Amino acid sequence: MASVSGWALSPQAEAAKPEPDLAAGRAAYGQYCARCHGPQAAGDGYDAKRLYPRPRNLTEGVFKFRSTATGTAPTDEDLFRTLTNGLPGSGMPDWRHLDEAVRWQLVYYVKSLSSVEQDAPAQPVDLGRDPGPRHADLAAGKRAYEKMGCAACHGAQGRGNGTSAPSLTDTWGRATRPADLTQGWNYRGGSDTKAIVTRVLAGIDGTPMPSYAEAASPNDAWQLAYYVRSLQQDPNWSMIAHAPLAREGLPASLDDPRWQRVPRVDVRLRNAMNEQGEWALPQTVSAVSFRVVHDGAAARFLISWQDPSDDRGDSPDGLALALPSAKVVGDSVTLQLWPMRFSPPLDLCVWSAKSLKTNEGVVRRYDTLLQGASQAVPLDTQAAYEDGQWRVMMTRPLAPANLPNAAQITPGRFTPLAFAVWDGGNAGQRATSSWVDVVMDAEPAKAHASQ
Ligand code: HEC
Ligand code: HEC
Repeated sequence: MASVSGWALSPQAEAAKPEPDLAAGRAAYGQYCARCHGPQAAGDGYDAKRLYPRPRNLTEGVFKFRSTATGTAPTDEDLFRTLTNGLPGSGMPDWRHLDEAVRWQLVYYVKSLSSVEQDAPAQPVDLGRDPGPRHADLAAGKRAYEKMGCAACHGAQGRGNGTSAPSLTDTWGRATRPADLTQGWNYRGGSDTKAIVTRVLAGIDGTPMPSYAEAASPNDAWQLAYYVRSLQQDPNWSMIAHAPLAREGLPASLDDPRWQRVPRVDVRLRNAMNEQGEWALPQTVSAVSFRVVHDGAAARFLISWQDPSDDRGDSPDGLALALPSAKVVGDSVTLQLWPMRFSPPLDLCVWSAKSLKTNEGVVRRYDTLLQGASQAVPLDTQAAYEDGQWRVMMTRPLAPANLPNAAQITPGRFTPLAFAVWDGGNAGQRATSSWVDVVMDAEPAKAHASQ
């Protein structure tokens, strides 16, 4: 498991800690931070509305990623680490490229913005001793996960789909969601066991995630952390996907073992802006995984994504597999902005959880297909929802005969494709990917290493 280290503070960092120079800190803040956190650090910078969660109001002194008791100030090192690594999965960038001395001045400046240091000085939590991976007891960790009620928010398998997940709000009155613990790359405060133990014992202030310092011994917390870490799945990010030729026929169902021989590709999603140009909701679907295989006549896709709720009503879950229409060059349109005035039509294969069916059409808007366009062509589809995950299998002819301007997929050539996902349980929020290239290979599936 690749680890986003929350603890990669170089031993020299401490030694290099300079004397505070608030004027230098203020200048660096104005240069790097004000556009998001605001000129007076009230969390209202020019870019703030484009981000969710919102940039923090740093004058309130509420910090999420601390190694200190809940309600107390973070340590200087906590802030230094946040600046250095950024907060993955949020709009907070990393500042590794700034000199360490500048980062320390920013730390001092952030501390000077609120009174938390005076009101509640940093009180480090006792992390106990790491039993080490060889003494990790995953069964004990799983029991702790169940006993301590983590599943109520994070879900039985950690997919962020617990029963309380849809109704959580943060200190600032905004909707928030429990982290998807299977997506280690998306942990804000680090995905290694030490970071997880720290989150459990210190809590995440400002959010519904409590501190378990009273409820768990450090040893329980370490076992729990090893278990949580075991839930993380390595992503396989790629901009290019290979669709092997299935000489033995296409996989026939969602669970057909032949899918295991097809490499999986993961693609990140970003929420689309609302009409006011804001991000106003938490992102509940962060990535799509897909495998594709073909038999010379049709391509069969197995697409899966984590969505915390199964919504089949009037605001259903949905997925669009986008291909450029025959008249468009792939990269000339971004799904982030599509559809907009004068944007070209796209070839969309749109699946809806309401009908459990997929329709393909060359359209100028998603709605056309979501509402059932007259020229739409149905695609052979299977779908299943299980514990926070949708899986959809759809089959599309390489060269559709009865769909004018449909994308023609030619084996051996790159075809761009992209995804849009709707989570009906998140007010119809749409998340979109960038384009990835798919190439239909000429050699059989066996030639590819399995993943
Ligand atoms: C592109 C926007 C953006 C910029 C630029 C930015 N931040 Fe942030 N920052 C955020 C967001 C968004 C959050 C909230 C993340 C969350 O709540 O999970 C955040 C959170 C923080 C936090 C809170 C950490 C915690 O533990 O809760 C600190 C401290 C912080 N930023 C400092 C800075 C400093 C210092 C700079 C300049 C070097 C900076 N930020 C630049 C977007 C930004
Ligand atoms: C009441 C709901 C709730 C419960 C119970 C809860 N969490 Fe969380 N958890 C959250 C929320 C909300 C977040 C996201 C916080 C944020 O980043 O804003 C979160 C985030 C996390 C993170 C990710 C931190 C990061 O770096 O991004 C971990 C790890 C975690 N929780 C572990 C646990 C474990 C283990 C338990 C049980 C001991 C637990 N949580 C119990 C709500 C909860």
